[in-house]
Amino acid sequence: AGEPAGAQDLAGRHVVVSAGGTREPIDPVRFIGNRSSGRQGVALAAAAAARGARVTLVAANVEDAVLEGLGAGRAGAADVSVVPVGSTAQLADAVHTAAATADVVVMAAAVADFRPEATPDAKIKKVPGRPPEPIRLVENPDILAGLARERRRAGQVVVGFAAETGDAAAGVLEHGRDKARRKGADLLVVNAVGAGQGFGTASNEVTVLDGAGEVVARAAGSKRVVADAVWDTVVKVSS
Ligand code: CTP
Ligand code: CA
Repeated sequence: AGEPAGAQDLAGRHVVVSAGGTREPIDPVRFIGNRSSGRQGVALAAAAAARGARVTLVAANVEDAVLEGLGAGRAGAADVSVVPVGSTAQLADAVHTAAATADVVVMAAAVADFRPEATPDAKIKKVPGRPPEPIRLVENPDILAGLARERRRAGQVVVGFAAETGDAAAGVLEHGRDKARRKGADLLVVNAVGAGQGFGTASNEVTVLDGAGEVVARAAGSKRVVADAVWDTVVKVSS
């Protein structure tokens, strides 16, 4: 959109990016959610489109102001189709459908690990002095691991993201390595989150691991800089 054309190294490819954070309904008016803004996923979509890809952005609860980062509506608008979703089940459906024709799938969305077992049709009412029963949770399917297992098309590249904090058991990179080996994805983009890092912030610092947990790239800067570093790595592993 008015910017000088850079490398068109994703021309002719269909890429799918999930962004934002899923919301799991508790009742018709309440949900369990997370703080993901969708900015990194939107930056990935915009960067891929600028490099010539046809992009499907599966956007889980991403605010319109964030989606404006796609540059849609301007002359020469990017080739991005946005599929809005709410829950993890909806995100899984949309990603699996789009993945059938995708050369690359990037799971940048923050997906709820668990959802309430039952969702009543009516709002849970307050009974003064009688708090409701605890909400029972059941596990959601791991979409990324499923995509990595299934490989809908030959040579399809599957990329995950991992926000890690590090804890008493292991540091950020060690957690990332374990996760890379567990998920079966081709690439895992690991970023440190916590005070002033990652969620909701304008910039990022990431390490890209391969499926064996080896470091293949590092990047720091704006979410667009990180996005382009991810696409550089995808192009490298798929050429
Ligand atoms: N992911 C997914 N489906 C899920 C949970 C996560 O596809 N049900 C994807 C995310 O989109 C991300 C990657 O898996 O690309 C890593 O997510 P993360 O939450 O870091 O991994 P988990 O395996 O859920 O581990 P934990 O939350 O315990 O750190
Ligand atoms: Ca998780």
